[in-house]
Amino acid sequence: MRKPVTLITGANGEIGHGLIEHFAAGGEHQIIALDLNPLDERLRPHCAAALSGDILDQNLLQRLISEYEIHAIYHLAALLSTRAEYTPDTAHRVNVEGTLNLLRLAHEQSRWHGHPVKFLFPSSIAVYGLPDVATKERAGRVRETDFNFPTTMYGCNKLYCEQLGRYYALHYRQLAAERVPSGVDFRAIRFPGLISAFTLPTGGTSDYAPEMLHHAAQGKPYACFVPPRARIPFMAMPDGIRALLELAAAQTEQLSQRAYNIGGFSLSAEEVRGLVLRAFPDAKITFEPDAPRAAIVDTWPADVDDNAARRDWGWSPRYDAQRAFDGYLVPNIAAYYQRGGR
Ligand code: SER
Repeated sequence: MRKPVTLITGANGEIGHGLIEHFAAGGEHQIIALDLNPLDERLRPHCAAALSGDILDQNLLQRLISEYEIHAIYHLAALLSTRAEYTPDTAHRVNVEGTLNLLRLAHEQSRWHGHPVKFLFPSSIAVYGLPDVATKERAGRVRETDFNFPTTMYGCNKLYCEQLGRYYALHYRQLAAERVPSGVDFRAIRFPGLISAFTLPTGGTSDYAPEMLHHAAQGKPYACFVPPRARIPFMAMPDGIRALLELAAAQTEQLSQRAYNIGGFSLSAEEVRGLVLRAFPDAKITFEPDAPRAAIVDTWPADVDDNAARRDWGWSPRYDAQRAFDGYLVPNIAAYYQRGGR
């Protein structure tokens, strides 16, 4: 008898950590964690199984479906935006082919057990490409359909995978003689820059905010790679995790689209520095912009319009900038490094 499970790919990443800890507290989900690297020891007890391997490895995916009955997939594995620019071909393989593999797996699973498979996908503000800073300032809060001209491989990959997911959910094999739904219930969130008190992202371009904070909490100097004026939306990790879970729980009839913006708080790098300094007054934070990386941030919106998420599934952030820093980031991060980063 195969066991009904929730599959989390990229389980070792920032969102994976938050998600697995959340599921552990509830206890109602059997988690199968998949990551390229061995799963963090602290997460291991919360998972029914932890597999190390590549989402491009068909044998591994076949092994998975021979052992488990998958009812939900949180497909978090990806190469982030800065990393992807150094190895665009690999990024395309992991971010696009990897996602296609998982969509196919979801479809096969649904056919097998006869229920829809929920497929949750973290997309990103990187799908936007504002042509210049003046347009960005004028645009303010962008809607999902605005400025869909990403300039990064990662942004292109995320935008296309949203479309692939929508195809699977709504139009799969539309010309087949006997058309049957794919069974893939795809839902995506375009995340702002996420900031966690317990983990650091690897290879992203919004990383300067979490890096500033984590360096300050450890008493290490930090040179910020974007200029003080650079502005994008951010979000405290607990809100990000809650958004994924709330979108997963929404009734299909509520959803008027398959990819949603969600807003947190919009801050310039200078404002992030101000909030970090308020908590860690001795922090040494300087600005040494790296022009190409800063240029990527300039193409991302200053803020997002999340009215569709609010209307369709009741999205509302709980953390504004103040509460994110005072009520979540600063107390947790200070305690985290006092424990020696555990
Ligand atoms: N935060 C991610 C990055 O910077 C974007 O999704 O790559």
